[in-house]
Amino acid sequence: TVTENLGSLKQQLEKLFGESLRVTVPDELDVPPIITPCKDLKHGDYQCNNAMSLFAKIKGKVPEFKKPQSVGEAIKNNVPKSDMIENCTIAGPGYVNITLSRQWMAERIHKMLADGIQTWAPKLPVQRAVVDFSSPNIAKEMHVGHLRSTIIGDTLARMLEFSNVEVLRRNHVGDWGTQFGMLIEYLFEQNQNWEAAPTEAIGDLQEFYKQSKTKFDEDSGFKERAQKAVVSLQGGEEKYRKAWAQICEISRKEFDKVYERLDIKLEEKGESFYNPYIPKALELLSKENLIEESEGARVIFVGGIKRPLIVVKKDGGYNYASTDLAALWYRLNEEKAEWIIYVTDVGQREHFEMFFAAARLAGWLPAEDKYPKVSHVGFGLVLGEDGKRFRTRSTEVVKLVDLLDEAKNRCKEALVERGKAQEWTGEELEQTAEAIGYGAVKYADLKNNRLTNYTFNFDQMLNDKGNTAVYLLYAHARICSIIRKSGKDIEELKKVGTLDLAHPSERVLGLHLLQFPEVVEEAVTNLLPNILCEYLYNLSEDFTTFYTNCQVVGSAEETSRLLLCEATALVIRKCFYLLGIKPVYKI
Ligand code: ARG
Repeated sequence: TVTENLGSLKQQLEKLFGESLRVTVPDELDVPPIITPCKDLKHGDYQCNNAMSLFAKIKGKVPEFKKPQSVGEAIKNNVPKSDMIENCTIAGPGYVNITLSRQWMAERIHKMLADGIQTWAPKLPVQRAVVDFSSPNIAKEMHVGHLRSTIIGDTLARMLEFSNVEVLRRNHVGDWGTQFGMLIEYLFEQNQNWEAAPTEAIGDLQEFYKQSKTKFDEDSGFKERAQKAVVSLQGGEEKYRKAWAQICEISRKEFDKVYERLDIKLEEKGESFYNPYIPKALELLSKENLIEESEGARVIFVGGIKRPLIVVKKDGGYNYASTDLAALWYRLNEEKAEWIIYVTDVGQREHFEMFFAAARLAGWLPAEDKYPKVSHVGFGLVLGEDGKRFRTRSTEVVKLVDLLDEAKNRCKEALVERGKAQEWTGEELEQTAEAIGYGAVKYADLKNNRLTNYTFNFDQMLNDKGNTAVYLLYAHARICSIIRKSGKDIEELKKVGTLDLAHPSERVLGLHLLQFPEVVEEAVTNLLPNILCEYLYNLSEDFTTFYTNCQVVGSAEETSRLLLCEATALVIRKCFYLLGIKPVYKI
């Protein structure tokens, strides 16, 4: 079914006030309407803030505008008639405060219930995007930084997909480079039987990595053989390719355990994939005279930063930057991506800035605000409670799988303590524990601005009070139980019932629901999932206020209020979905 997407409240108001501006100041065609939500709902729902800046611009030119208020007055009077707006008033130096029509708001929510929440999807100016996220390194541990990248990247991909953008979810795993010579050589020397039973031959891959590294550092003969192995691997020698593939496969299985728990979909195109494209990419850069010789290496001076970007190492080998340049070329030209998003810790910011700058110098990318666009989504560290980098008790690195399992198990224990083992089937218990546990880990990461470091704390994230996934999941389950307990068929009510927002708390809740499209749009355009988390938390608070002030089941307004409950549950579930959190319906 084709359903109409009307755009967000903000966009619709921008349209109306844009038309007003064109009439009010016909000579100022380039002035965009400035519409923001009112901070204090006592004044109105939205405001138009154009009058002051406009007045400063046209002062003297238009004689009837003697003060900013008169500009505001004219803007207000020239707004085309619309069912959307109840009334406008002028405040202070010319703000136009806008009160939306209660009936229009109610109808709009009802329409979403009928047509589906997809009709509230933001519209973005891109068709296809690459999200490069997670991207751990083969044979090394997948650490909490990769966990953050996985969680943030998945959310961004989900928000883009909801906005009807085709997303290429890319796992840019570190599966190429000189360390493989060492690993392969060590494998050959340690175990004659590596081909038949690679898993046994390697055992714990991280341990294996450590041992081979030690040998590499201490044994010069081994080092030499390892360096030769790199050449054989890169030359495509079968035995070496095979060993490499087996090492990769063992790593992949470990990574998949994390992806499976967190329900992450992504397609691996590792560094090795782009290796054949490097010479061509470098040739293109060379043609633009960007590559020069410096201290034996081949480099690009990108300006601004003193250090140049090394694209061919002294020994003639390629590196992280050459791979990223080739991958960028591929994504732009072969995959035709219009927005390429890289999710890594902020520590890598300079690397991204430098190769983005190189691509801009080469003319691969237009000016920064134009598409195709590249964005580095940086994030801060995960800290332990001691304020230092996160580790487990044993001071060893944290195994992500263990971390996730602990979150789940703690949730399970809490549910068992509340008697759920008797009440539910074993499967329900498992699924609920997983939804809460993994959801809590994700939400704790996403709720803060990604650039700030965040402290990993089970007790905090699993608390059922405060701004946590647990609290939000409870809030949602409670709404579902209100609807269930009413005994009413909600699908039927959607068809025959009407929705009204008569009580002030109903109106506040309704307005908040209607702001979902613009919030998602803001979150996805600025690549800031915390904006959506904040919205979600405030929404559940508004629901609580509504539910405290307005009786639902058994009241004269029951039908309307049940519909409002259903709309709230729908929006909350969509937020959960976008944040990668699975809803639960009873808790
Ligand atoms: N493998 C890298 C790391 O673990 C992250 C790769 C990010 N993506 C990219 N295209 N550079 O730090």
